[in-house]
This record gives sequence, structure tokens and C-alpha cells, in this order.
Amino acid sequence: MNFKFFTALILYSVIYLSSRSYAFDPCASQPDDSDLSVIPIYGKCSPFNPPKISWDNRVMDMASKDDPARLTYLSALAAQKTVSTAPIASGQAFNIGNYIVRVKIGTPGQLLFMVLDTSTDEAFVPCSGCTGCSTTTAPFSPKASTTYSPLDCSVPLCGQVRGLSCPATGSATCSFNQSYAGSTFSATLVQDSLSLATDAVPNYSFGCINAISGATVPAQGLLGLGRGPLSLLSQTGTNYSGVFSYCLPSFKSYYFSGSLKLGPVGQPKSIRTTPLLRNPHRPSLYYVNLTGISVGRVLVPVPAESLAFNPSTGAGTVIDSGTVITRFIEPVYAAVREEFRKQVTGPFSSLGAFDTCFVKTYETLAPVVTLHLEGLDLKLPLENSLIHSSSGSLACLAMAAAPENVNSVLNVIANYQQQNLRVLFDTVNNKVGIARELCN
Ligand SMILES: *[C@@H]1O[C@H](CO)[C@@H](O)[C@H](O)[C@H]1NC(C)=O
Ligand SMILES: *[C@@H]1O[C@H](CO)[C@@H](O)[C@H](O)[C@H]1NC(C)=O
Ligand SMILES: *[C@@H]1O[C@H](CO)[C@@H](O)[C@H](O)[C@H]1NC(C)=O
Ligand SMILES: *[C@@H]1O[C@H](CO)[C@@H](O)[C@H](O)[C@H]1NC(C)=O
Repeated sequence: MNFKFFTALILYSVIYLSSRSYAFDPCASQPDDSDLSVIPIYGKCSPFNPPKISWDNRVMDMASKDDPARLTYLSALAAQKTVSTAPIASGQAFNIGNYIVRVKIGTPGQLLFMVLDTSTDEAFVPCSGCTGCSTTTAPFSPKASTTYSPLDCSVPLCGQVRGLSCPATGSATCSFNQSYAGSTFSATLVQDSLSLATDAVPNYSFGCINAISGATVPAQGLLGLGRGPLSLLSQTGTNYSGVFSYCLPSFKSYYFSGSLKLGPVGQPKSIRTTPLLRNPHRPSLYYVNLTGISVGRVLVPVPAESLAFNPSTGAGTVIDSGTVITRFIEPVYAAVREEFRKQVTGPFSSLGAFDTCFVKTYETLAPVVTLHLEGLDLKLPLENSLIHSSSGSLACLAMAAAPENVNSVLNVIANYQQQNLRVLFDTVNNKVGIARELCN
């Protein structure tokens, strides 16, 4: 090789590579990757204005304000009755997105940061002209898309929507209202193409929100990953083989480092699994068989019935991506707390939703909390079981009882407890896989 050329090549490479690394944008997703990045909603790369409080205060805040509404929502779902307008939540269920993914809807694609919600089937997006929707970021603009079309009441999927307001006869646009705690939103079922990283889903049906009163929905919508008929899994047919997984980065993390992987490709080959239970009355929820909880080496004694799965009452345990801290029904939480307190040096105080806070110096005594799922023991790393006060002087057990006003039969494994884990849902083989994965 000619020496001059060789030098030029090296120089070129140096310049090229350094300009590449200079241009590296930690907030950009990898364009050639079919994984979708996931970040906490108030991370640095989020378009939503983070509240000017620290992440731990934000978690405290969500745990005490948003979670009770979420639990009300999940309990209502679990105990679903046949009502035409399903209760969504008292106030802010939709405000509770903690993790967002970046998707594009329409042609050309409009970039939207949507909240990930494994307990909802549908996707909802605020559409232009929406009254009462958030104005902090642009809504989806149907007019700017060449592939958009509203759906008619005669479309089979329309019949799956809750709160439908189709006329008994004649043709009309598929519209529906959903109400919750004095608030209502009205939406139209529409279809357009959805781009998830490098994958395209043509004619994806979702709710285009036209009006909302009382509560707000996430500024750029919600992507449902439940497994009912309107879900992304159902609408994509066999393309993803009913399989997806996510790794939620730490709440502390800034960048798009977590990931949502759709389909069987690239999933961990060997992963410990637990059966995924199916509740025919509540097809969107991901129920698992929690058989016990250990604190340190002690298997906490709980009433036999308190963890049992019961499809008709909705009782049991779900894994959810939209609740912040894990909630157990009262007798279960009381037993866990009692054992935890026995093993850590008090005195104990309360902070927001947490009732077992202690001087951080004693953190080294904190026992490991293990969730015994059928066939899989999930030992929670300390970052997933303890939370610190923002001043840093206290550590608290980051779990709570279901809120008192909720007549709850449901235990919820929430996302604080899922940080830096890969959680794999296989809805065809009815399995949930869980493995430690650092995705900070
Ligand atoms: C749905 O909401 C819209 C707007 O708030 C209202 O005009 C309409 O009457 C509602 N429809 C039903 C069936 O409740
Ligand atoms: C999407 O829907 C439109 C209108 O309903 C239809 O013309 C088109 O063929 C559909 N495209 C695909 C890929 O199914
Ligand atoms: C399934 O994937 C293929 C290939 O990417 C794509 O052409 C097709 O539109 C997809 N179908 C659905 C329903 O998403
Ligand atoms: C949960 O696991 C326990 C222990 O293996 C088993 O006895 C029980 O039948 C399981 N429950 C369900 C609903 O599968």
C-alpha cells in the first residue's frame, strides 16, 4: 500500500471516528436496532418537563399520589363487571406513566413519546384539536398523515372497545367515551401505521383522543402492551409470536438505556420462568403465581388465601409496568413489614407511602426480600427493595399495603422492583421469564 494513501486513510479514520463520537447523541435511538429504547418519563432525554425535584422525591411523590389511583384502576379491572363505561381510575391513572418509549405514527412518521403500559390493551393518543389535552408537547396530527383513517362502527375491532357509543343502526365513526372519577375522555377508533424502531405495523388501530375533562392523559399517549384483542400483540398477528420483553432502567437513569424487545428474536436464550396465568375475565392483566415472600431467610407467614389466584374475584398477583412500588394486600404487607422490622434496627418512621424507614446507617442490616414465584425465586437487589429519602439520611422499605380505600384483592409487582431486570412475557407458551440485566 502506498504510504501517502495509508497515512491519509489513518487520518481520515481518526477524523471520521472522532467526528462520529463527537456527534454521538445519547438521546438518539440506534437506527439499525430493532429494540426500542425505554427511559423513565422524567429522564434527561424525555421531552416532558421534569418537575424540579430529585428522582427519589419524584418516586416518593408517585408512590403516595399516583399509585393509589393506579391500584384503584387495576382493582377495578381485576374485578371487572360488565359495564359499558369502565372505570379507568380515580383521577390520574393515565398520569402514571413512568417509562416511555419512542415510536412513530403516520406517514411520514410523527415522533411520539408514549408511556408503556402492560395492563392496558389499547393505545391512546391525543389528537390535534383535542380539548383538555396537555399542551406541553405536540399531539398527533391526523391531517399530516397520508395513511390515517378513522374506523367505522362496523369494523369488528370496534366491538371490542369499552364505552362504545355507536348507534344501534346506520353507519357512524367508531367513537367511545371512557369515564373515571368524574372525568371523561372521548375518542375515536382510528388506524394508521405504527413504527417501532425498525418494525412497521400497517393499519394499527388505536384511540385518537378528541376531548378530555378532569384528568390528563400522558402528553403523547399510552402504548398498551396487555394481551387482549385490541393489544399490539393481537394486532400484529404472528409477527411477534406473542413474545416481548423489557428492561426498565433505574429511575435514576437519564438516557434511553432500557429496552423493549418485541418478538422472539434477540431474547435471552436461557432464562428462569414462572407460569403466566390467564384470567378469562381480565385478559389484559399479566397474572403470575406468587406463592410466598421471604425476608432474609425467613419465609413470611401469610394467610393461605391471601396469595391465591381466583379468576372470578380477580384475586392474585400481577406484574405491572405502570405502578411505581409493589403493593401487597394488607395482611400480606403487614407480615412482610413485621419480619423486616425484626431484622433491622429501629426506630422506624414513615415517609409518604412508606411506613418502614430507618437510619441509613443500618442499611447493611437490611435483609434481602425474595418473591417466590412458582418455579422462580426473585431475590430483589437492594436498589429494588429500598429507597432513600432525598436528604439521604433515611432508607425505607420500598413497598406498601394496597391503599385503604381500595377493596383490593390484588397484589401488584411494580416497576421500582423491576429496575434492571429483563422481564420476558411469552403469551403463547404462558411463561414469564425474569433475569438480572443492567440496563441503566
Ligand atoms: C361522549 O362524550 C362527548 C363529549 O364529551 C359527548 O358529547 C357525548 O354525548 C358522549 N357520548 C356518550 C354516549 O356518553
Ligand atoms: C390498510 O387499510 C387501508 C384502508 O382501510 C387499505 O386500503 C390497505 O390495503 C390496508 N393496508 C394493509 C397493509 O393492510
Ligand atoms: C409483519 O411483518 C412484515 C414484515 O416486516 C410486515 O410486512 C407486515 O406488515 C407485518 N404485519 C403486521 C400485521 O404487523
Ligand atoms: C401456584 O403454585 C402452587 C405451588 O406450586 C400450586 O400449588 C398452585 O396450584 C399454583 N396456582 C395456580 C393457580 O397455578
